[in-house]
Amino acid sequence: MRVNSLSGRSILSVNDLSVDEFESLIDLSIRVKKSVKAGLFGLEKEGRIITLLFQKPSTRTRLSLEVAARMLKAHPIYMGAGETQLSRGEPIADTVRVFERMSNCIVARVNSHSDLVAMRRLSRVPVINALSDFEHPLQALADFMTLKERKGSLRGLKLAYVGDGNNVAHSLILGAAKLGVWMSVATPEGYRPSLEVIAAAKVEAEKTGAKIDVLSSPQKAVEDADAVYTDVWVSMGQEAEAKKKLEALRGYQVNAELMKLAKPGAFFMHCLPAHRGEEVSEDVLESPASVVFDQAENRLHTAIAVLYSVL
Ligand code: CP
Ligand code: NVA
Repeated sequence: MRVNSLSGRSILSVNDLSVDEFESLIDLSIRVKKSVKAGLFGLEKEGRIITLLFQKPSTRTRLSLEVAARMLKAHPIYMGAGETQLSRGEPIADTVRVFERMSNCIVARVNSHSDLVAMRRLSRVPVINALSDFEHPLQALADFMTLKERKGSLRGLKLAYVGDGNNVAHSLILGAAKLGVWMSVATPEGYRPSLEVIAAAKVEAEKTGAKIDVLSSPQKAVEDADAVYTDVWVSMGQEAEAKKKLEALRGYQVNAELMKLAKPGAFFMHCLPAHRGEEVSEDVLESPASVVFDQAENRLHTAIAVLYSVL
């Protein structure tokens, strides 16, 4: 397993990775998974300290990173923000300058992406985005790994994303642009992905042959899609807007009727946790087309690849 150019680097956005680096991480994750399954896992980062600073709850991200760290013989130390002095008003800029003196790598789930940017500036060790209000790069890595495992190759595939133009959508759009994937996003007018993300993705897409469409019609977006992806309509931290968002997104549920318009055999994808009956119907989530638990498992293999590469 070669150590790539990521050594010592922070990853706050899919766009912190070159096309080569993003593809290498997917391929490394696929190799990691094979050796984990064969019981031949020999990667080590013995004794390294990986601190996890989380301002929001997590199941998959925390578990995958803690397990990945242990499999690398490193030591994960988790601190929920509520248990730290952040909860009593200590600035995150001070917090990170303590963490960086006691860690080889900081993994952070934050309310505000700008805090991650400040953390990277203030930290001499890599900072990894474990979800912010703007991106979820570790999720996109596992999602494209899942598609690559199933399809063999990513170039030219069509991925439809239906629902809220949120953090998960942003990382998928940036990833699709790097990987030559045709990404078709359907959201209501007021919940489009950020223009900045679309513009950056379009620049990259020029080079890789990817295509990025932003539409209003879920039916149009899923036409001919190899996979249909959705995420919750109300993300963590948006509870105050819940009523308004649920109303605006009502026509955007991924259900059997919508899946019928995708390519025959199209996969259903979701980063989880899912809200059955809102963004996805129970039958689609539980159908044979659903690869959501492969995506969840692949969070582990990609976490190993990322930690191994940056440490
Ligand atoms: N998909 C994901 O990031 O899940 P958690 O919020 O459980 O970590
Ligand atoms: N968009 C969701 C993703 C959760 C993994 C959120 O930010 O809550």
